[in-house]
Amino acid sequence: MKLENLHEAVEFGAKMREEFSLQKGETFLNNGSFGAVPNCVQEVQRRFREEIERHPDDWYRRSIYKYWHESQKAVADFMHCDPQDLVCVQNATTGLNTVLKCCPYKPGDILMYTTLTFRPIAYTCQATADLYEGVKTLEMEIKFPISSDDEICEKYEDFFKSNPNTKIAILDAITSPSAVVMPLKRLVTLCHRYGVLALVDGAHAPGVLPINLTELGADAFIGSFHKWMFTPRGCAILYVKREHHAWVHPLVTSWNHGLSLEKKFYIVATDDQTPFITAKYAVEFYQRIGGMDKIISYTSKLASEAHVYILKKLKAEPLQIPQSMESPTMRVIRLPDLSQYPCTLEGSIAFHTDIRYKYNIQCAIEVIQGHLHLRISTQVYNTLEEYKRLADCLLEVIQADKNYKTSSTRSLTDRIY
Ligand SMILES: Cc1ncc(COP(=O)(O)O)c(C=O)c1O
Repeated sequence: MKLENLHEAVEFGAKMREEFSLQKGETFLNNGSFGAVPNCVQEVQRRFREEIERHPDDWYRRSIYKYWHESQKAVADFMHCDPQDLVCVQNATTGLNTVLKCCPYKPGDILMYTTLTFRPIAYTCQATADLYEGVKTLEMEIKFPISSDDEICEKYEDFFKSNPNTKIAILDAITSPSAVVMPLKRLVTLCHRYGVLALVDGAHAPGVLPINLTELGADAFIGSFHKWMFTPRGCAILYVKREHHAWVHPLVTSWNHGLSLEKKFYIVATDDQTPFITAKYAVEFYQRIGGMDKIISYTSKLASEAHVYILKKLKAEPLQIPQSMESPTMRVIRLPDLSQYPCTLEGSIAFHTDIRYKYNIQCAIEVIQGHLHLRISTQVYNTLEEYKRLADCLLEVIQADKNYKTSSTRSLTDRIY
């Protein structure tokens, strides 16, 4: 299989957008939630699917192994780890559920997460504690403003000192929806100093932060590839440190139960493996359009410029974090409290729905610390003009607030993050 029709010399911005099949007339400023798959990568997945349909037996009995291992190697090289320590899972939530649910607990153990932990992962901790007698969860509060990495590390250290039974801590690489880059390496070291397993929610890290899994030394690391690595949805990685291979099993038990980590995970019943085997080509796409240096220098400059522009236009406040903790591809801005959008989940959905359907703009609106916030993402297909338009539209909504009636008729299933 080859990556074909890749125009690697294409300029980032409007020209690069033509390499994606994103709907014309829509503005996509929320890559952080669901990503976007370039046409040439979509084409690879399509060809794999055609191959499956030509001969399903050959595919599941033979061809899949070679493709799976090729992709495992490409992804492991990209994440700097031994391929044997890295397997694929459908998404980050599945990966985190996997590790949390099969960890060997004893009564008294604590599962620790923070107020910035992605909510479904906090719920996974709670659901896991419910499965094991005497195991409980504790949520550590992290409030804005955040002044420095040191403040975060001190909080974790105080927590571990006060709670010596902490078995496992969820560490975010980049928090969501608040988009804070956490001092990951320092937190992993701290966990190990206090005998705590470091389980990293790295959903937003691959392709954004220069992660070296071997050097990081986390006990397990989960990263999405569909967000910033251009793969189809259904592709996340699960890295497990060698000493934990024996107790980490897929949530669904299948043929290779009891075998090596990679064997346990590479055939989990009859499944669609095309998102993961396409990852090799998505990594190639990422490298050929310029790799991390070029991509992140574009997206971080765009994020800074867009941030400044929107803040000025709306006379709004940024999320109170030091510059060094800002994500290279996302920014968060506090929105004024508006009468038509309460600072609740329903209010955020109504606001999002109005921006989506009135202006054809996709962005994330979230409740953080009791106030509505805007989260913007920057990707290689975005331009500054798009954020300027967003700012104009937001201003229109804000200025019309007194008389404005929400047009939202959507339900809670429209939740975005
Ligand atoms: C920090 C974080 N963790 C986990 C997830 C879950 O990812 P998925 O829905 O792909 O499982 C997300 C999704 O946005 C996230 O931002």
